[in-house]
Amino acid sequence: MQVVKYVFQPHGDERGQLVALEEFRDIPFKIKRVYYMYDTKQGVTRGFHAHKSLEQILICIHGGCKVLLDNGYEKKVVPLEKPYEGLYVSNNMWREMFDFTSDAVLMVLASEVYDENDYIRDYEEFKKNVEDTNEH
Ligand code: TYD
Repeated sequence: MQVVKYVFQPHGDERGQLVALEEFRDIPFKIKRVYYMYDTKQGVTRGFHAHKSLEQILICIHGGCKVLLDNGYEKKVVPLEKPYEGLYVSNNMWREMFDFTSDAVLMVLASEVYDENDYIRDYEEFKKNVEDTNEH
């Protein structure tokens, strides 16, 4: 499984760093939604779902966390701990986010607005979807 990590260009000078993200330039889709998680409690794992069509870029803009990606055949754990790094998460990809540091802010750029119908929250259903997609 190919893990796609983006390294964004920080515009640094003596004042500090600044990262700018533009759709179709730095981000491979139109950004329709931004959300972020913070104050995540110790030991919590979030996610446990895939999306039918949504694409996302995950950026841990402060602190760190780990992301488990699972394409139905293979799993990879990706650490996110740099504010200039983005992890691309395609559709049909199961994800779990864990090992959040207490100061972690995980920002997500999403290609669609929130739609509960786009979620696959059952792992067996996810596996079946992946197998059905690959048969056709
Ligand atoms: P949830 O899906 O449980 O987050 P995670 O996948 O990280 O575990 O979302 C938590 C709550 O936030 C849930 O009530 C739905 C709501 N929510 C929105 O209203 N809009 C959004 O864009 C997202 C991602 C969640």
